[in-house]
Amino acid sequence: LYIGIDVGTSATKVLICDEMGRLQAQASVAYTCEHPHDGWSEQDPDLWYRAAIEAVSTAVSGADLNAAEVCGISFGGQMHGLVLLDEYDRIIRPAILWNDGRSEQESEWLNEVIGRNVLTERCGNISFPGFTASKLLWMRDYEPENFARIAKILLPKDYLSYRMTEAFATDVSDASGTLFFDISNRCWSDAMLEVLGISVKQLPRVYESWERVGSLCPAAAADLGLAETVQVIAGAGDNAAAAIGMGIVRPGDCNISLGTSGTVFLPTSEMMCDANNSLHSFADASGRWHVMGCILSAASANSWWIKSILGSEFHQELACIKSKNLGRNRIFFLPYLMGERSPINDAAARAAFIGMSGESTRADMAQAVLEGVSFALRQCVDAALAMGVEIQRVTLCGGGAKNPIWREMLASILNRPVYLHAHEEGPAFGACILAMVGCGLFPSVEAASEALVPESIEVIEPDCEATRAYQKRYETYCHIYPALAQLFR
Ligand code: XUL
Repeated sequence: LYIGIDVGTSATKVLICDEMGRLQAQASVAYTCEHPHDGWSEQDPDLWYRAAIEAVSTAVSGADLNAAEVCGISFGGQMHGLVLLDEYDRIIRPAILWNDGRSEQESEWLNEVIGRNVLTERCGNISFPGFTASKLLWMRDYEPENFARIAKILLPKDYLSYRMTEAFATDVSDASGTLFFDISNRCWSDAMLEVLGISVKQLPRVYESWERVGSLCPAAAADLGLAETVQVIAGAGDNAAAAIGMGIVRPGDCNISLGTSGTVFLPTSEMMCDANNSLHSFADASGRWHVMGCILSAASANSWWIKSILGSEFHQELACIKSKNLGRNRIFFLPYLMGERSPINDAAARAAFIGMSGESTRADMAQAVLEGVSFALRQCVDAALAMGVEIQRVTLCGGGAKNPIWREMLASILNRPVYLHAHEEGPAFGACILAMVGCGLFPSVEAASEALVPESIEVIEPDCEATRAYQKRYETYCHIYPALAQLFR
């Protein structure tokens, strides 16, 4: 048996598969984020470890599996989060997450003073406040006493693998999101370490995603109820892991994830950089590269509206959105609840509803939220097409993919068929596959993904009429942020 653990933002999800990739058990443990100030986002790393322990034991005992049959564990994890340990391995402060915009000024400093071209040359990307580098600069300026205590810098899933193995390790896909990793050479960037005032001793050893980093240490084996012989494999950032779990390993493939964040993930055979700096260029989990657009609020915008604001339930509100109304809504929604990354890179941007009248209904508002997120994703798709990335096949994963009306809407907004798989847990399944490759069951990640990822179960075709209407709406949507941008400052 192989365990995939996805350290998400809203929950840690665990899948257990057999060596044929068949699902044997799953469990998830939910938690929340702390937002100590507007636009800040933090979590206690210990929460992830406790959630992983609970989810693994619930999955094993719930399906009555024999724990002695577990051979390997791997991870997918929310990217970019800054996890810091002192010399005694104590957590220095809560992790600063991927959707935290506090380091906007430090990020701007990197882009302006070090320079966008220099950053892109060194690390394949410009700076975004969500990336790890500007958060370190923020700490150096605002929490110098914490900065001085840093012995180890980790990413969220690497904290779990450290607790489980005592091996200080990361993988190339997750390291890519730090902005101190040389993506084309797949190693830390000395020049960037110097800019940030950190040393390679504070950084984990970098592995390819399928490589073994160690086996369970006695304490973790006892916590998990597993043997010390269980192999622990590096794993990947959640989007790179999801791509493996969805069979997205070739140029022409595209995976869209509707999770807390929304991402558009496109594998490339060579490293490609977006000259407009709106998309990220990262190493992937199969030995190559990808480009990716990331919007900061996707399914989270939907839960904000339905759960937090309406105090209602998804099924109740979403049932009111009818297929025949797709393309006919008069209301627009900008989904920038946490600021925005791709393509506008503006941590100060905020969400907006526009265009309500006395006739507008509750269902129109809920529909506008899903449409705003879908338009924002289409902007990422368009940015990829503009840089010459080919798109032949689009798959959907993440919690939002469970929502049929959202799937229909996306197909029409993108004017492409979208493919749905049997389970939407892309990152955890991708992590299972990485564990199998690391344990020697397959010669490569690509071979494993091809052998293990089942055919899609449904294709959702765009509807002609809705597509035509959405094209016009999208053109208007693209004018809204530029018209409002100054108001958010
Ligand atoms: C990607 C990103 C998010 C997180 C959250 O760049 O920031 O998708 O990985 O899961």
